[in-house]
Amino acid sequence: EKAGYKHFMQKEIHEQPRTVADTITGFSSSKDEKLFEMLKDTDRLYIIACGTSYHAALVGKFWIEKFAKIPVEVDYASEFRYRDRIIDDKTAVLGISQSGETADTRFALLDAKEEGAKTIGLVNVVGSSLSREADYVLYTYCGPEIGVAATKTFTAQLVALLLLALETGIKKGTTTYTDYEKIHEELLHLPSKIEQLLQKDEEIKEIAYRYMNASDFLFLGRNINYPIALEGALKLKEISYIHAEGYPAGEMKHGPIALIDEKMPVVCVIPQDRNYEKMLSNLQEVKARKGKVISVATEGDRQIKELSDEVIYIPKTSDYLYPALTVVPLQMLSYHIATLLGKDVDQPRNLAKTVTVE
Ligand code: M6R
Repeated sequence: EKAGYKHFMQKEIHEQPRTVADTITGFSSSKDEKLFEMLKDTDRLYIIACGTSYHAALVGKFWIEKFAKIPVEVDYASEFRYRDRIIDDKTAVLGISQSGETADTRFALLDAKEEGAKTIGLVNVVGSSLSREADYVLYTYCGPEIGVAATKTFTAQLVALLLLALETGIKKGTTTYTDYEKIHEELLHLPSKIEQLLQKDEEIKEIAYRYMNASDFLFLGRNINYPIALEGALKLKEISYIHAEGYPAGEMKHGPIALIDEKMPVVCVIPQDRNYEKMLSNLQEVKARKGKVISVATEGDRQIKELSDEVIYIPKTSDYLYPALTVVPLQMLSYHIATLLGKDVDQPRNLAKTVTVE
């Protein structure tokens, strides 16, 4: 059942070219026009989720605000439930959950529904509680995810959120056809670009070997790749038990920079997008404090080599699509660090795949 892979997590990382492609196809073949009609009229969208799904939500916010021009607030479901949020009949709440059974997310969504919000679920498990409780449902088409660490469902959630943003944008007239087509075209190349990344398995394993004994890691990113820094840190801590923090790179000088010394690996998510220069100066700040820099950068970026201790190159894509690529080497890096340390990546201690208690 692991199809020749050592762990489910590894198998699931390697399934991503297919699950991304299936989610693109699945989205187009099951479009619910009523959902877009509803979103056209929505004044405020809350996205609620936990863990990795929460990180997908943070990326989704950028896309929905950009293409659909709906103000978005992202909340941890467990926080959303117990605060005074503002809900009226033009408010929609989108709950993202791989399992569709996470208690925090389900109950928060049900509460919002009762208060009059329109509810949408983005789930992987067909027929799950959340998919039955929400007014509208979107799916990721990944098949079962067995590894406790979410991997393939994260990239599929990203794809679904981007398509949701674009489709709403077109219906609402806030996105041009040219942009829509351009991004669609890039999306169709995503599976083969992920495939190229998966071929770097040995190279990433060697990097993992060089840093596996560090006791702390910092992950930095900016803008749409900031949530990827958070996701990279979560992946590492949950399966390797190494302490890791994700930070928006610009925030570093406001505190965390104090942590940096020659023992601290700092993973910089630095694709060549419009935040590149800013990210570069943050990277230089890390180097000036002798931190060990592991960069995830765009193929062809030569200067990054001189400034980093390690570089993992990713294929070039549109600025908006980078998160779906930058996350993949981070999944692979955590996987290798954890397995080299002899940890059980599919069943990490203290964790359950589905958390059905609040
Ligand atoms: O099934 P869900 O997407 O609702 O699960 C949410 C989190 O429990 C989940 O993403 C968790 O953080 C994973 N272990 C992350 O890899």
